[in-house]
Amino acid sequence: MLNEDIKNILPMTSQVNDEGILEIGGCNLEEISNYYGTPLYIYDENTIRNICKEFVNEFKESYPNSHISYSSKAFSSPYLTKILEEENLGIDVVSGGELSVLQHSKFPSNKVNFHGNNKSYEELKQSVDWNIETITLDSFDEISLLNKIASELSKNQKVLIRVSPSVDPKTHILTTTGTLDSKFGFPIETGQAEEAIKLTTKMSNLDLQGIHFHLGSPIFETEPYVLAINYVLEFAHQQRKNGLNLKIFNPGGGFAVSYTSMDKTPPTVKEYANAISETIIKKCDELSLPKPHLIVEPGRSIVARSGVAIYKIGSIKNIPGVRKYVSIDGGMGDNIRPALYQSKYSIFHVTRILEKPTEKVTVVGKFCESGDILSNESLLPKLKYGDLIISATSGAYNIAMSSNYNMYCRPTIIIVNNGNHKVIKRRETHEDLLSHFV
Ligand code: LLP
Repeated sequence: MLNEDIKNILPMTSQVNDEGILEIGGCNLEEISNYYGTPLYIYDENTIRNICKEFVNEFKESYPNSHISYSSKAFSSPYLTKILEEENLGIDVVSGGELSVLQHSKFPSNKVNFHGNNKSYEELKQSVDWNIETITLDSFDEISLLNKIASELSKNQKVLIRVSPSVDPKTHILTTTGTLDSKFGFPIETGQAEEAIKLTTKMSNLDLQGIHFHLGSPIFETEPYVLAINYVLEFAHQQRKNGLNLKIFNPGGGFAVSYTSMDKTPPTVKEYANAISETIIKKCDELSLPKPHLIVEPGRSIVARSGVAIYKIGSIKNIPGVRKYVSIDGGMGDNIRPALYQSKYSIFHVTRILEKPTEKVTVVGKFCESGDILSNESLLPKLKYGDLIISATSGAYNIAMSSNYNMYCRPTIIIVNNGNHKVIKRRETHEDLLSHFV
């Protein structure tokens, strides 16, 4: 039996079979790895669907006029898009590429929002042309540009304005966005957010629907949301004088997940939902502001837990008195997060997960960088060449931020569900890599 600490990090369908081998979605990970080869990313459909339902239900319960918009930068794929559509989520995108995945998947365009600090002419045109629901304005240049595009296409485009509320969510400096010194959003503090509202409401082909902010990610407390929501709703109230009618209010995403059992326990979805909803309801009542439609945009918390990466152990190098390096057949090409944010991951042995760990090792990738370290100190059973390990909680921002560094062929991704498995993205080949050169 898996202990509770481990269970909470792994996909919900994880179990250990009679031979001591880890299974996910009813699939034996050793068999699956032999079948598809490694590195291999596995997504558990059941976990994704359960988490989607939890978000939809908890927010509906605490704030009925709400919906969940998945932030597709965390992981984007046509198969996932279908699941999200079936689970009644909207989707937000940050590039023409992410938008094209939705177009390809025939996702309803009236459930799409486009974010980004520097959207191109082509990306804005692609969005307006496809009748997406809202575009979040993030700069003065963009306000005029989008108005021009909408007028060229004879459309009236619904928009949100992204403000920056100067609230520090106390997360990694590289993933903090809601502070004054940020490339994202119009600062409220400097008067630029007010200017943006004045300008937008004057535009003939833009229809200002509301306000958005995103503080950063991952946020392990509900406090920053409460602070920022109160502040931004006060601001929205003041901006009625400039023609702002707050129909939509979007306090972003950033909900945390546990990557290791040592992590601080994040609030539950219910706790996030209650804190956000109660703050909006209370503040709107206090200000006599009509309660807006609420949109939240989780990315990581929808897909992180459902995904695991499976790697095969290659060379093992023990430096007496220093450390034992254990190399895997992937690394920073498919997971840059430890190198970029010093993120921690939980590593487990696929066929001996219940065995007592006997040694502390440093799990490193195969890339030509000393910083290519997946996990600095992992406690594992004694490993040998050819063993299989998994890195848990690998469903968000791993594949999404992967690269071809060292001409790496990005791994196969499969989805597992009730004992069935299928490829949703095939492994890249050398031919794929060469096909871009002219
Ligand atoms: N909304 C906006 C406007 C965002 O910029 C983001 C994430 C989200 C929603 C979703 O945040 P989430 O719920 O996934 O935390 N690469 C980093 C995370 C960067 C997040 C960027 N924006 C990482 O791997 O931790």
